[in-house]
Amino acid sequence: MPYSPATARIDEEAIRALPKAEVHVHLEGTFSLLDLLTLAKENAVALPGPAATLFDISTHTGFDAPDVTTGGGAGAGSAGLSGFLRFLDWQCGLVRTPAQAARVAYAFAARQSASGIRYSDVIVNPTHWNAWRGRDLALFDALAAGFDEADQDGLCRVGMAYSLLRNQSAAEAEAAVAGLVSARPRRVVALSVDGDEKVTGRTGEKFQHAFAAAARAGLRRTVHAGESSGPEGVWDAIDLLQAERIDHGVRAIEDPALIERLIADDISLGVCPRSNVTLGIYPSWEQHPLRRLLDAGVPVTLNTDDPAPLGSTLESDWAVAAEQFGFTYDDLVGFAARSIEASFADADTKAALRADLAEHTAVVPA
Ligand code: ADE
Ligand code: ZN
Repeated sequence: MPYSPATARIDEEAIRALPKAEVHVHLEGTFSLLDLLTLAKENAVALPGPAATLFDISTHTGFDAPDVTTGGGAGAGSAGLSGFLRFLDWQCGLVRTPAQAARVAYAFAARQSASGIRYSDVIVNPTHWNAWRGRDLALFDALAAGFDEADQDGLCRVGMAYSLLRNQSAAEAEAAVAGLVSARPRRVVALSVDGDEKVTGRTGEKFQHAFAAAARAGLRRTVHAGESSGPEGVWDAIDLLQAERIDHGVRAIEDPALIERLIADDISLGVCPRSNVTLGIYPSWEQHPLRRLLDAGVPVTLNTDDPAPLGSTLESDWAVAAEQFGFTYDDLVGFAARSIEASFADADTKAALRADLAEHTAVVPA
């Protein structure tokens, strides 16, 4: 039955029911605690701490990826985003066989479906998956098998964004893209770059050739920027990397000319407020610029980034955002509509999703 905005309140059930896409989520950030414990047991790898507190972000002061042959544990490190990224290295290091990779891919699609997500672009950064070093295309092949099975089972449809790590060299990035262009791995729809901008400084020029080669080959482009760096990272993403979407981009709010450019070129920001608050980019939800970006007219989508270790779901993040920023149900329908438009789904998938959203939100005549 169509949803009736006059009688319902914005709760998680209503949000789950909205047909939508998610466009900024890392596969590395979606392993459940059970997935991790199972993988660690299968590979006889010791946990770096008590099982019950593995997802306690405040204890993620640094992880070394487990050695593929001997296992391993926590190492000295830094806090915040960089420490968190090392935690992702540790957990992805537990995925070692094609069957394990396919399993985490399938679990991702099921997790997205449980949030009412019908299509998702998912970012996969092979540098986190240390058992697959030098075999990144085999990793993507195994993941595609899991997404294929999920598709056949009627779960969320998934396209992958192959992500470079900001710390990689130009030569490594160009070699990775050359591999993608010649092998054209199934379900890889885009090139991405992620990692901690604060650690590397500006990297636009370094990756310019890699992104240009990807664009020539028809791969879409999405770039992490304006998260731990200022607006200059977003300018570089647009001007040097031909970004069609920006992941985060929240610090664009500091530069009115950049806001104008995002609007003029219809470049959407894949905003993830919970991630930004938990990882210390903003001290609180109140200080997060999501509402100001939206009010300025920037095309904004609302995403989870790394929901499992951040302890969230898309529906809970949307519900909290509605509460914190005073979004109405119609505002959330707007987020759902923009998620579909911003996605790299094929034209048929987008058209079907648009129609489903329109039908779902049709007001019941009195
Ligand atoms: N990889 C996973 N999560 C990330 C984030 N929030 N920023 C940059 N790279 C990431
Ligand atoms: Zn991200």
